[in-house]
Amino acid sequence: MFGIRIRFQSPLLLQTLTRLSPMAAAAAAAYSPNPNPNPAKRKIKRVGTHNGSFHCDEALGCFMIRLTDSFSDADVVRSRDPQVLDALDAVLDVGGVYDPSRHRYDHHQKGFAEVFGHGFNTKLSSAGLVYKHFGMEIISKELQLDVGHPDVLRLYLAIYKSFVEAIDAIDNGINQYDTDQPPKYVSNTNLSSRVGRLNPDWMDPDQSSEKENAAFDKAMALAGSEFLESIRFHTKSWLPARSIVNECLTARGNIDPSGEIMVLNKSCPWKLHLFELEEEFKIDPPIKYVLYQDDRSKHWRVQAVAVSPDNFESRRPLPLSWRGLRDEDLSKESDIPGCVFVHMSGFIGGNQSYDGALAMARAALKI
Ligand SMILES: *[C@@H]1O[C@H](CO)[C@@H](O)[C@H](O)[C@H]1NC(C)=O
Ligand SMILES: *[C@@H]1O[C@H](CO)[C@@H](O)[C@H](O)[C@H]1NC(C)=O
Ligand SMILES: *[C@@H]1O[C@H](CO)[C@@H](O)[C@H](O)[C@H]1NC(C)=O
Ligand SMILES: *[C@@H]1O[C@H](CO)[C@@H](O)[C@H](O)[C@H]1NC(C)=O
Repeated sequence: MFGIRIRFQSPLLLQTLTRLSPMAAAAAAAYSPNPNPNPAKRKIKRVGTHNGSFHCDEALGCFMIRLTDSFSDADVVRSRDPQVLDALDAVLDVGGVYDPSRHRYDHHQKGFAEVFGHGFNTKLSSAGLVYKHFGMEIISKELQLDVGHPDVLRLYLAIYKSFVEAIDAIDNGINQYDTDQPPKYVSNTNLSSRVGRLNPDWMDPDQSSEKENAAFDKAMALAGSEFLESIRFHTKSWLPARSIVNECLTARGNIDPSGEIMVLNKSCPWKLHLFELEEEFKIDPPIKYVLYQDDRSKHWRVQAVAVSPDNFESRRPLPLSWRGLRDEDLSKESDIPGCVFVHMSGFIGGNQSYDGALAMARAALKI
C-alpha cells in the first residue's frame, strides 16, 4: 500500500494548485530549484509524513526540507504505514523516531525532549527539527552567503525566535504565558490555526485522500510562503536596521560622556534591536534617550527608552514639569530654546533642532 505522491512540478502548477499570490508564488518558485534539468537522470528523493488531519509543523517541515540541496524537489508521501515510511529518504512528524543521521524527524515519542538551543528551551515540533538541522543551509542560500558568515547565524536565530518557535510551542501545547487566567479575547488567526483550517471540513462529502493531499499542498504553500516572507523581511529590513542601531550604539560615547544618549543616524525600527544589542554587548548604563529626526517635520525627537520591549514605562521619563507643555511654555519651563512638545507621559519630546533635542536629553539626565 503506497501513500499518495505529491510533486510540485513547476512554479506555475504550484501557483494554480495553491492559489498563491503571484509574488508569493514567485518567491516559492525561487525555492524549488531543480539542479538537474533532466529529472530522468536524477533519483527523486521522497519525504514522508503522516496522512489524516495535518498541522502546521509538518506542512512547514516538508516545505523547508525541500529547500535544501539534498531534498530539493523531493516527492511528498503521506502515510502511516511503517513499511511505506521505512523506504523513504526522510520522515517527518510520524514514525516515533528522531535520528538526524537517518533523517527521521518525529517528536511524538516518549522521552523526546529536543530543543533549539541558543537559549531557546521550547520543545521542538517537526518544523523546529527540520529548521534546527537545515535552517542555516536554507538561510545561507537565500542570502547567498557562506554558512559561516555571522549574518547567517543572526538570521537563523532571529527567524527561530520570531517565526518557528511559536509553531513548535503551539504544536506541543505550550502556553504563551504562565497564567491560569482565561484569555481576555480569542485570537484565531495565528499561522498554526490557519493551516489547521485548511483540513477538509467534516461536512465535506469528499473525504478522499486525494482531497486531503491537495489540501496539504495548500498548507505547505501557505506555511512556506510566510516562512519565506519572514526570511525576506529579516534580510531586507531587520538586518540593515540592526547594523544601524549597532553602529549608533557603539558611537554613543561621542554624543554625551554619560553614554546614556544615542543618536539614531538614519530613521529605522530601533527599539527591539536596542534591547537585544544592549543585552548582547552588556551595555551599562543602559541607554535612556534616543534622538532621531522626524522625517516629515525635520524636527528632532528625544525619546525615552522603555524599561523593556513590551512595557510602556520609560527607564527615565522626561521631567514631570515639562510634560504636556508646548513651544514657548515648554522652552520657558525647560530653559531650552526651540522646544516643540513633551508628551503627557514623558516618553517623547521634540525640539526644532538636533542641538535642542540633545540639550533636552542632557537636562533630563541631570534632573
Ligand atoms: C491513511 O492512509 C491509509 C492508506 O494508506 C488509510 O487506510 C487510512 O485510513 C488513512 N488514515 C487517515 C486518518 O486518513
Ligand atoms: C492559535 O490559534 C488557536 C485557534 O485555532 C488558539 O486556540 C491558540 O490559542 C492560538 N495560539 C496563539 C499562541 O496565539
Ligand atoms: C552615520 O551615517 C553615515 C552615513 O550615512 C555612516 O558613515 C556613519 O558611520 C553612521 N554612523 C554613525 C554612528 O555616525
Ligand atoms: C531648538 O531648535 C531651535 C530651532 O532650530 C533653535 O533655535 C534652538 O536653539 C534649539 N535649541 C537648542 C538648545 O539648541
